[in-house]
Amino acid sequence: MIEENCGCMKKKILVSTGGGDCPGLNAVIRGIVKRAYKEDGWEIYGCIESFNGILKDEVEIVELTPAVVSGIHVKGGTIIKTTNKGGPFHYPVQQSDGSWIMEDRSELMKKRFKNMGFDAVINIGGDGSQRISLALCQMGIPVVGVPKTIDNDLSCTDVTFGFQTAVQIATEALDKLVTTAESHNRIFILEVMGRDAGWIALHTAVAGGAEVCIIPEIKYDPAKILEKINTRYNHNEGFCNIVIAEGATSLDGKVTGKDPTAIGDSHIKLGGVGDKLKFELEQLGVEHDIRVMVLGHLQRGGIPTAYDRILATQFGVKAFELVKESAFGRMVTFHHHNISSVPLEKALEKPNLIDPENNYLVKAAKGTGIVFGD
Ligand code: F6P
Repeated sequence: MIEENCGCMKKKILVSTGGGDCPGLNAVIRGIVKRAYKEDGWEIYGCIESFNGILKDEVEIVELTPAVVSGIHVKGGTIIKTTNKGGPFHYPVQQSDGSWIMEDRSELMKKRFKNMGFDAVINIGGDGSQRISLALCQMGIPVVGVPKTIDNDLSCTDVTFGFQTAVQIATEALDKLVTTAESHNRIFILEVMGRDAGWIALHTAVAGGAEVCIIPEIKYDPAKILEKINTRYNHNEGFCNIVIAEGATSLDGKVTGKDPTAIGDSHIKLGGVGDKLKFELEQLGVEHDIRVMVLGHLQRGGIPTAYDRILATQFGVKAFELVKESAFGRMVTFHHHNISSVPLEKALEKPNLIDPENNYLVKAAKGTGIVFGD
């Protein structure tokens, strides 16, 4: 519990950005710092490269003042760096024989956190990072979580920052593919991010007017996509644009990607489902020219949209206010146009996936003729 702050002794907040980077992270950091400096008695520090900054043999922590964060809301990435490997409970340590072990450094983190005089942590990250937030809280480290993911797969918040930027980038890519598909009578497959949730694919397909949208929540049957292609070509419409999420699976249920190879990697590196679909369609006898475009990390880089900057700024301000109220173990949310918060346990109960039967946007997509391969 943070005691009433008289301003005579500064309270110190440690900020971390964890997991994959995401447009809007810097706007959250700026929001926290600007809000904190509106009153006396607070200092904000950035933990470099997620929690590695406090876990490394040589600590890397920087002070974040209003001067440091000035103007960073328009910048992509995160000024305090990030990683999606390791963390306090699985910190990779190389052994003398060259092998790696995962060390639990959470007690070390707790000790350093206390010795360095920190009062609270704000952890900005996706589901993996918020699981770390919860575990740290359970050890007695006071943490407030801020949800981050371009995939929009965190529950209890209507949307996460970074998602709108990713959709905008993917839609602009699709718009460009549509004109070339139309000119050449080609089939284009646009592979977008979306590990477990197909929100980016769904929004892009509707915004860009794709003919087919394939998402992880609906196993696709290539024969159903073939039907749509045939209809297009038989009616002289003569081209077809397919948006597919990287985590989508055909009827075999197998995701496409490479097994984890780097130390600390916990996930398969997804990629290649677009090529898989091309192969499947060719096996079914499609002779039209099929081209595949993988958008990859372009969706995560660069300038955040105005929407994401605004959302991220609100999240930063709210995170500071939760710390001030000692409302630890909670994650900031945006729900029904309100910035609020929920217990971390609730946010982590289940992921935010598309409900194929009831989702209004799936209905609208189907209503405009978009096929999902089911
Ligand atoms: O979770 C966000 C995300 O962008 C996923 O869509 C994607 O599978 C993953 O991160 C990629 O992570 P990395 O950059 O580490 O390969």
